[in-house]
Amino acid sequence: MTTTMVMASSHKIFLVFFITFLLFPTTQAQTYLYHICSSNSTFTADSAFQSDRATLLSSLASNKAIDFYSDTVVGRGDTIYGFFMCRGDDLTTCHQCVVNATQRLPSECPISKEAIVWYDECLLRYSNRSFFSTVATTPRVALLNTGSVSAPASFMRTVYDIMNKTADEAAKPSVGKKKYANTTRGNFSAFQTVYCLAQCTPDLSPSDCRWCLSGAIGDLNWCCDGKQGGRVLYPSCNVRYELYPFYYQSEAPEPTPTPAIVPLPGSQGKPLTYLLRM
Ligand SMILES: *[C@@H]1O[C@H](CO)[C@@H](O)[C@H](O)[C@H]1NC(C)=O
Ligand SMILES: *[C@@H]1O[C@H](CO)[C@@H](O)[C@H](O)[C@H]1NC(C)=O
Ligand SMILES: *[C@@H]1O[C@H](CO)[C@@H](O)[C@H](O)[C@H]1NC(C)=O
Ligand SMILES: *[C@@H]1O[C@H](CO)[C@@H](O)[C@H](O)[C@H]1NC(C)=O
Ligand SMILES: *[C@@H]1O[C@H](CO)[C@@H](O)[C@H](O)[C@H]1NC(C)=O
Ligand SMILES: *[C@@H]1O[C@H](CO)[C@@H](O)[C@H](O)[C@H]1NC(C)=O
Repeated sequence: MTTTMVMASSHKIFLVFFITFLLFPTTQAQTYLYHICSSNSTFTADSAFQSDRATLLSSLASNKAIDFYSDTVVGRGDTIYGFFMCRGDDLTTCHQCVVNATQRLPSECPISKEAIVWYDECLLRYSNRSFFSTVATTPRVALLNTGSVSAPASFMRTVYDIMNKTADEAAKPSVGKKKYANTTRGNFSAFQTVYCLAQCTPDLSPSDCRWCLSGAIGDLNWCCDGKQGGRVLYPSCNVRYELYPFYYQSEAPEPTPTPAIVPLPGSQGKPLTYLLRM
């Protein structure tokens, strides 16, 4: 993976561009996407917060074979709240992802009282503010597959239509239940199949989840209009569409390693991805 970072001058966004080689996705235990550290809410190094955070993160990392988990450490100063969520179709690589996230955040965000990291396979977050059962739509990040489609207007209509239905499906389960759906729609054109995914954190109510997803779907319009793929990541929900399958087609664990991601014919398995911080 090659990564370049450019600071966009006219817009207040970071533009990170990286070329991802998706040919052997299962050899990568986890795919890191982005992280954000609070810069205005910080603690002093070697303080109680630091050791309380370590306690919290190790508690999160010790929970295997579970889709999501939250924990609270009542510290000597602040109380710290932590949470992780696995992508709804993929529990097999999630634990490794969570372990990686619990190591990455303290090193990337050494003195932040709040931080979040997104991977393909999981999301992990901690804060000194309670964020459970609350919809968070910021900070937010978008990634896009920069390949263009030939008929953008009708393509995006199709994408929004499928996304809306996927979001309806994802939001149905009650509070505390996994909120995930993926949809495959073939025959968009002679060659194209669209794959969509929507997920909310399980602590949300169905209506909060749907509201969150509507925001994320709306941002697709901003980031990814007419593009071959796009995703919008919020703390509380995320959406993604691509012209290649990027989720497991069955919830059963794979008996043998089967690539979760099959390169789109013609793309040589190297979708070009830009990342925008909104
Ligand atoms: C830090 O900044 C964010 C975004 O501007 C704001 O929402 C938050 O309340 C601030 N936190 C503190 C501790 O000032
Ligand atoms: C976590 O990911 C980073 C970056 O890909 C890697 O350098 C590190 O070795 C990983 N850690 C674990 C425990 O997998
Ligand atoms: C979190 O920490 C920040 C920075 O020390 C502080 O301003 C804020 O009040 C704390 N929030 C809570 C809910 O304790
Ligand atoms: C999807 O839902 C939004 C409202 O949430 C609506 O504005 C939009 O027209 C819908 N798009 C399609 C294609 O159904
Ligand atoms: C995800 O997609 C697969 C294949 O299209 C389907 O069998 C499965 O039920 C979907 N899962 C969810 C939770 O929507
Ligand atoms: C796609 O179109 C072909 C030919 O028009 C048809 O045979 C096939 O059943 C369609 N597949 C889907 C998933 O709709």
